[in-house]
Amino acid sequence: MSTTPTAHQLAVIEGTDRHLLVAAGAGSGKTATVINRLLYLLGVPIGGRTIATPVTLERLAAITFTIPAAAELKRKLRERLREAGRTDLAWRADTARIGTIHSFCGEVLQEFALHQDASPSISVLQEGDTRALVGESARDALVAAVEAGHPGITDLLSRRGQKDVDEALLQLLNQGDRLRQLAAVGNQHPDETALIAVAVAALDLLEQRLRDGGTVDFDRMLTWTRDLLTSDDYARRTLQRRIHTLIIDEFQDVDPVQWEMARLLGEVGSGRTDTTRLLLVGDPKQSVYRFRGADVATWRAVERIFAGGHGTVVPLNENFRSTAPILDFVAATAGRLLDTPLNETGVRQDYEINFARLEVGQPERQSEGPNVELIAVPPLDGGVDQIRALEAEAIARRAVALHADGVGWREMALLFPTWSSSGLYQDTLRRHGVPTYLRRDEGFYERREIMDQIVALQAVRDPTDDLALTGFLRSPFVGVRDETLLAIALAGAGPYWPRLRQVECAERELLHHGVALLERASALRDRVPHDVLLAGLLEESGYWAHLALLGPERQQGIANLRKFLALARDHAEGSLGDLLRSIAAERDREDRVGDARLHGEEDDVVTLTTIHSAKGLQWEAVFWCDLVRGPSNKIPKILVGRGQVALKDPEVKTQSDHWEALAGELKNEESAERARLAYVASTRAKKYLIVSPLGGEKPVHMAKFVGEQLKLGEATDVALTYPKHGGGEWSVTVTMADPAWLPANDAAPGLVPIGSDALDTLPQPLVPISVPAGAPLHSASEALVLARCERKHWFRHVLGFIEPAQARGGPSFGAATTRGQIVHEVLERHQVGQDLELLIEAAIREEDPTAPGPDSADGKAYRQELRQVIESVTSDAAYREVADLPGARRELRFVYLTGPGEGWQGTLDLAARNDQGQVLLDVKTGKVSEADLEHRTEHYRPQQEVYTLAARAIAGKRVAEFRFHFAESGTQVRHVYMEDELVPMAERLAEQVVRMESGAPELTRHPEECERCGFKTVGWCPGV
Ligand SMILES: Nc1ncnc2c1ncn2[C@@H]1O[C@H](COP(=O)(O)OP(=O)(O)OP(=O)(O)O)[C@@H](O)[C@H]1O
Ligand SMILES: [Mg+2]
Repeated sequence: MSTTPTAHQLAVIEGTDRHLLVAAGAGSGKTATVINRLLYLLGVPIGGRTIATPVTLERLAAITFTIPAAAELKRKLRERLREAGRTDLAWRADTARIGTIHSFCGEVLQEFALHQDASPSISVLQEGDTRALVGESARDALVAAVEAGHPGITDLLSRRGQKDVDEALLQLLNQGDRLRQLAAVGNQHPDETALIAVAVAALDLLEQRLRDGGTVDFDRMLTWTRDLLTSDDYARRTLQRRIHTLIIDEFQDVDPVQWEMARLLGEVGSGRTDTTRLLLVGDPKQSVYRFRGADVATWRAVERIFAGGHGTVVPLNENFRSTAPILDFVAATAGRLLDTPLNETGVRQDYEINFARLEVGQPERQSEGPNVELIAVPPLDGGVDQIRALEAEAIARRAVALHADGVGWREMALLFPTWSSSGLYQDTLRRHGVPTYLRRDEGFYERREIMDQIVALQAVRDPTDDLALTGFLRSPFVGVRDETLLAIALAGAGPYWPRLRQVECAERELLHHGVALLERASALRDRVPHDVLLAGLLEESGYWAHLALLGPERQQGIANLRKFLALARDHAEGSLGDLLRSIAAERDREDRVGDARLHGEEDDVVTLTTIHSAKGLQWEAVFWCDLVRGPSNKIPKILVGRGQVALKDPEVKTQSDHWEALAGELKNEESAERARLAYVASTRAKKYLIVSPLGGEKPVHMAKFVGEQLKLGEATDVALTYPKHGGGEWSVTVTMADPAWLPANDAAPGLVPIGSDALDTLPQPLVPISVPAGAPLHSASEALVLARCERKHWFRHVLGFIEPAQARGGPSFGAATTRGQIVHEVLERHQVGQDLELLIEAAIREEDPTAPGPDSADGKAYRQELRQVIESVTSDAAYREVADLPGARRELRFVYLTGPGEGWQGTLDLAARNDQGQVLLDVKTGKVSEADLEHRTEHYRPQQEVYTLAARAIAGKRVAEFRFHFAESGTQVRHVYMEDELVPMAERLAEQVVRMESGAPELTRHPEECERCGFKTVGWCPGV
């Protein structure tokens, strides 16, 4: 539907200036103006005037932020062209160059690949593959730096550990182009310099590997296009001639690379008149994608370039979206927040954007409107979760009432700061009969029912793909049990497909049915349209029936399936393989660019989304929710600022001034973005804006700020009135949520809590001592490693490398160490007469999540085996002798300090006292023969000594004896201490610490150690 453009809008629509920057507030018609400008250039009369020489559709390019936004733009363009009677153009609207920045760059790279001497068919790497390649490059660059004796790196690794260094490296690599700039700036501190050097080497490796493979990932798509435009005059000139106008909507969220591309195409500042014209459109107050590399400072820089005579800046200052009360509310809350200086000195930074009042564009329609509504929550003792639960109740009630007043479900949206609590709100709405549709950024392709379709199509395309085949058999298409899959696997090596009918199993019929389904579908592959093939499979297999039985999830499931079928229909041209590849690419893109429009036009449902994804959209009624969510307080290992980088030092409590300064700066940038988020959230509503929850909040919460600005105080169930800018008054309505709305919370049957009386009767544990953070604490297992091989110790405990996995035969679950952990965990919890099964199950879930379930044959055997080991321990007379002593404690964690900030840590399996002193017992799982017993005990000696000395020092009582309990053979080895053994033991321990900290990488004196060593397997250590 067309509206009459304002004079300012017309200036943009009909403007003849080469480069335009439209800087305007929310709802001022920026996107509407973009469409009008496209129409005008195409020759459609706007505001009564027609362009003299129209531009062809092929010469117009528009970039929007997301795929749905691009689809929406195309849809509107088509609709308006049809209205204008230009059906010739309307049917070609789909072919217009309107898309995301990535689709734009993809086309450019493809087109000029040959000219660049590169492979003409560049394929886009999937997100998962990119991540793997990035990780690999980082690791290889790190190892190369260590081997080359790169100054600072070995030292860095030994102080920070491999995990931290890895994490910091990945964070730097994710900076992409910015990393090169940071490296160019130089001027970093020593640790950071070393790290940046490795990161740059890793980036070079990564780019080389991408090129070698004829692939490109999403980040490189942009930087390579920029590089192409910079270095290849032919490509740049060709594009400049071809693209008459380049339009970028939501320009406030571009990153520096994207701006550079636009600048190169337009040759802004060159004075040339034969380049691409730019129309950049945005609102710096809505820049909210810092986490994705957007930088509002880029906008400011562009604004300065344009204002400096290299372009024209056009403001639009009226708002056509929201009613007057909403605009008053925005000024009183988000507006004030934007205008509050973050720095105490009051000096504003580039990223602090001033608010500009939004004036009502159509006074006759917009000045009338209901008050903005605030939902307050009384003090509750259940913490923030209970506050949210009550808030959700209040929202659901209000949504139902609005619907009764004639507001359609699709005209309502709930906006959240993050996805974290969206499930709670969705459940509550559902309980009140409100239809919702929640599509998370990466949601669609991760949905169970969609993954089922993808796996089925993969199996249809290639039944010998065992992974796809078993996925298909297990899915609701066929639904065989895990035992059957196991029987298939045991019947011989893959591929399974040719001999599936010969497999002997209880579910033979079902299996044959599945085979027949797949045979029929495979025969039809690429002969009937993909959606017809899939629809047949869904019908024949009873998949629809399965979905219909799903309960409340079913509507969402059915809607998703329909959407997937439509998607398959749209890919009628290519083969099934092409469809699957394009799904993979789409899935990847969805991961990256998120989504916006949250439901199809035909679905009458309430939208649930994050504020980020709501950018550019509008609804009749908007609930701005979860105002009690504070900023995330996760502290990263590395801070990356505009010109500086700071690594966190794990060994000190107070970080360097350098770190603190950068952390402060980044915190301010985050606060500035939070103000902008508040602005985006409060400017999405046309008529109803409902804000919640207010009352009882912390200073970091938006709720607190809003409450203070509106002087909410104790006010409940009233209207509060404020003087209006330019005379008059405006009001908000406050509603108090009633805790009685909360659904009754029946106490769930569960564990009976131990009363305080019971606690008092327990003996005192050996109290762990707290140590300053980051102290170099050694563990008994470290001592064991050192005793066996100093080189391995150096890799693992000095450099902090994780030992590379070695190929093992047999099932991947139930590794010896995992089994040991499960046994120890159960032993810790077990009380006489308690249900062992439950404890084992809980421990498996915790320690060995990939183990097969209790219903499968393997799973049963595994549990049986674990149970036997545990029972053999708990029922063993020698074990009970210690466990039943008064004051016996199991699984006691301890920290034993031997010097300031230095010492040992570990866990004692069993510690008790008898008349002689302390008795310590350590349980060993894993098999050991009678003949081997002495040798094994000797092997564990360093651990015994650590435990003994620690228990002696911490409890202040002599250790009378130490026992190793070998669970699987049921044997115990006892060592009764003599009084004089302690001194030489302490000396040995001290000597070990010296060796540990000297970090000498001597090769082992025990050749058998090399047999199962992961460091040797990957060739990092030559072995002996
Ligand atoms: N001149 C006008 N007269 C009447 N209505 C208008 C006019 N211009 C735009 N509108 C309407 O105002 C609403 C907001 O427009 P639009 O979405 O283009 O704003 P925007 O500036 O892009 O907003 P945002 O900053 O949220 O992206 C739309 O419903 C649009 O149809
Ligand atoms: Mg817009």
